[in-house]
Amino acid sequence: MLTLRPIGTVRSPYTESAQIPKGLGVRHDAEGILEIHAEWEPGLMDIEGFSHLFVLWIFDRVDGYDLVAHPPSDNRAHGVFATRSPRRPNPIGLTVVELLARNGPLLHVRGVDMLDGTPVVDIKPYLSSIPPERLRRGWLAEAEGRVAR
Ligand SMILES: C[S@@+](CC[C@H](N)C(=O)[O-])C[C@H]1O[C@@H](n2cnc3c(N)ncnc32)[C@H](O)[C@@H]1O
Repeated sequence: MLTLRPIGTVRSPYTESAQIPKGLGVRHDAEGILEIHAEWEPGLMDIEGFSHLFVLWIFDRVDGYDLVAHPPSDNRAHGVFATRSPRRPNPIGLTVVELLARNGPLLHVRGVDMLDGTPVVDIKPYLSSIPPERLRRGWLAEAEGRVAR
């Protein structure tokens, strides 16, 4: 077992899961604020230079997990580790957000898909060196193909 310390809280327009867009081709444009707790603020030094961030957070309003998930983007089941299901053995969420502005310990971001009050456990600059032609999108590409047909 291990213990994680929240470093902050998500301020989001979403108070219920039903408000958060889901399904194939969904875009997350909602703006929110990552409120970083004062003791961790020195750790934000130089973050302004990055356009996008990885945010690691906790699905704190989920009980339990399912090893086989039924994502809203497909009518077929998939293993939980092949999905972004909230119901996972370790309830860790990962969201890429655009950093719009920093105001001290407040990071104004675009692209939140978390509920208001969600605990943040880490932030890292978004960097990807994988060329698009080398990315495979697995069952999602197949699901998109079935819908398009
Ligand atoms: C499909 S998950 C993807 C989250 C993240 N982008 C990821 O890949 O880990 C997004 C859903 O998680 C749920 N959710 C968001 N915040 C939550 C929280 N704090 N506790 C439990 N469920 C949450 C909402 O239903 C939302 O639609």
